[in-house]
Amino acid sequence: MAINVTKSFLPPIEEYQEIIKGIWENTWLTNNGPLVRKLEGQLKEYLNVEHLLFVGNGTIAIQIALKALNLTGEIITTPFSYCATTTSILWENLQPVFVDIEPKTFNINADFIEAAITEKTTAIMATHVYGRPCDVEKIETIAQKYNLKVIYDGAHGFGATYKGKSVLSFGDITTCSFHATKVFHSIEGGCVVSNDTELNKKLELYRSFGHKNDDYYTMGINAKNSEFHAAMGLCNLPKVADIVSNRRVVSEKYDELLNWEKLQRPSNEIEGFEYNYAYYPVILESEAKLLQVTEALKQHEITPRRYFYPSLNQLPYLDFYNPCPISENIAQRALSLPLYYDLALEDVERIASIINENL
Ligand SMILES: Cc1ncc(COP(=O)(O)O)c(C=O)c1O
Repeated sequence: MAINVTKSFLPPIEEYQEIIKGIWENTWLTNNGPLVRKLEGQLKEYLNVEHLLFVGNGTIAIQIALKALNLTGEIITTPFSYCATTTSILWENLQPVFVDIEPKTFNINADFIEAAITEKTTAIMATHVYGRPCDVEKIETIAQKYNLKVIYDGAHGFGATYKGKSVLSFGDITTCSFHATKVFHSIEGGCVVSNDTELNKKLELYRSFGHKNDDYYTMGINAKNSEFHAAMGLCNLPKVADIVSNRRVVSEKYDELLNWEKLQRPSNEIEGFEYNYAYYPVILESEAKLLQVTEALKQHEITPRRYFYPSLNQLPYLDFYNPCPISENIAQRALSLPLYYDLALEDVERIASIINENL
């Protein structure tokens, strides 16, 4: 059977049906319905955060975050992330300024940030790559020194913790994606997390066209999500611990079997960090090796993913270039291997041996 880089978790169909029955009773399909509010309540408790809004996806989450913080000018950001991190900045007519990554976690290198700050800089937006936290303490110190806002793209961070707190609880705003491929999902979906009541109110308005009933306060957008998506989230949330634990077993099998003399991987040795096993990236010796391994896996109907590729400072539609040699180099060689809750260990063995034979 074909193996893809990921496979969406689906709860037992009866559990989903049971929750959506209520939708037929109250005919409330969207617009901040009872299931959306219930999911938000459970997520706040699960993540132990003060404010959280369930939104349409992880991209619109970033966009309303950028808007709500009134950002202008330049945003310091990471080149090693999914394109949505950069395109959200461009979409809001802001200027991304790329700062290279550090080789241990592939997160933005906080030591390089100060040199990139200009009088136009208004924020730092970094990604917790593959769920590993950025250097949140150092970034916070820099942000305070230069009066900058901090947004974390926490699309991968659900279920990961740092120093006893959810990885999603840092910065002025953290966004997350609940896309079908994520550790926790609501088919499509995402959230914005903040710890400021006024900011949360603003985000709430932006999520819903900028008005409440007949009172029009500001320009907004449609970032809402539906009762059906919330129902999937409500089904999946109690399963997250088991999903993470299964992913851990799969990941540890790869750890045991892959040839680490020829491969690299990001490090989990971050003090106080508990991983959510969101991805299993390996870094090959060269792009040629990556292509060779990908082709060999393809012969066995196994599809890994180049994630992240390209380095975002090299997106073909940018009209400027900030060199980021480490990110460019890693992006050429990074391959995410299949990882999902019920990937059989015999399949992991097969995948590992195909890879090792082609290194
Ligand atoms: C780092 C990162 N940011 C943003 C997104 C966008 O999330 P969504 O697909 O929910 O819009 C993704 C999606 O995979 C992502 O990996």
